[in-house]
Amino acid sequence: MLEQKILNIKTRAAGEIKKAQSEKELFDSRVKYLGRKSGFNKILKSLKNLSLEEKKKIGPLANAVKKEIDEEIKKAEKIIRSKVDLEKEKIDITAPGKKIKRGHLHPLTIVQNEIEDIFTSMGFEIADGPEVETEFYAFDALNIPKNHPARDAWDTFFIKDQRSKIKDQNLREKILLRPHTSPVQARYMQKHKPPFRIIAPGRCFRNEATDSSHEHTFNQFEALVAGDDINAGHFKYIGQEFFSRFFKKELKVRLRPSFFPFTEPSFEFDISCVVCGGKGCSTCSRTGWLEIGGAGMVNQAVFEAVGYPRNRYQGFAWGFGVERLAMMRYKIDDIRLFYSGDLRFIDQF
Ligand code: PHE
Repeated sequence: MLEQKILNIKTRAAGEIKKAQSEKELFDSRVKYLGRKSGFNKILKSLKNLSLEEKKKIGPLANAVKKEIDEEIKKAEKIIRSKVDLEKEKIDITAPGKKIKRGHLHPLTIVQNEIEDIFTSMGFEIADGPEVETEFYAFDALNIPKNHPARDAWDTFFIKDQRSKIKDQNLREKILLRPHTSPVQARYMQKHKPPFRIIAPGRCFRNEATDSSHEHTFNQFEALVAGDDINAGHFKYIGQEFFSRFFKKELKVRLRPSFFPFTEPSFEFDISCVVCGGKGCSTCSRTGWLEIGGAGMVNQAVFEAVGYPRNRYQGFAWGFGVERLAMMRYKIDDIRLFYSGDLRFIDQF
């Protein structure tokens, strides 16, 4: 009778274990069949009341069944756990992908790259110079002598260093943050002989109060073309060609007389308004023209300063603002946004 009971428990337990879907169900089965309050435990406890002969028969059977149920549960647990792991590892190849956040180029870099592409396609070379400059390249070589009031036009950040302490003016050469890209002209010419055409894009610094169109840190791109017979017509043509390609529309160019120590004659360079085409709108303050930068025919004094003979070559140069072009291209109304580090601005490009 007892034997039959044990075998019944075994079959019932086996059935339940087989049907179990979760670790929780298996845990419940273990409590139910092998736990302290289980019928099986009662049987085991009552063994001591049996006769020796019955003990010998039922004892080993009960123990074997107990072990068997225990092993069945363990086996089932293993299977369920491995199924759960598989569930976790399953990849739903139809699920939408996770978007990876990618960086991108700064608007000024995009514009500078475009400028470089247009000029290299016109046979220009790209030249470079240091942002920390000497007084000689930034001023002296550009026909702006020491103590000359023209230097005031470039609100320069000077760097204090040992050399500034030298009393003798002629021996003293100050170090500064370049206020324009024109020093690259002198550096390049010291190493090359005309004919050549270069542009020199780069960062410049000026000690100025900032507002929506002035920033202490900004970019220019210098152009310098020199040869035997370069004239203002070449200059006007190259300028017009560049801006028409950059803005992808036919633009007119206007030169107004101006003054720079390193060019003679000097011009302010304007282009017809890219928004209204010259009719007059708020972007061009109703004038139909947009001011782009300074330009002119290279002053012979500059050629002399870099070691060329006077009146041997002719050339033109300009210094245009990169931010200005980027602002027109993208309709940005405050120059200070470029270096603000504001992601709401930067993420739009
Ligand atoms: N370097 C001048 C400036 O920054 C611009 C310029 C460059 C003018 C070359 C003439 C020729 O103001």
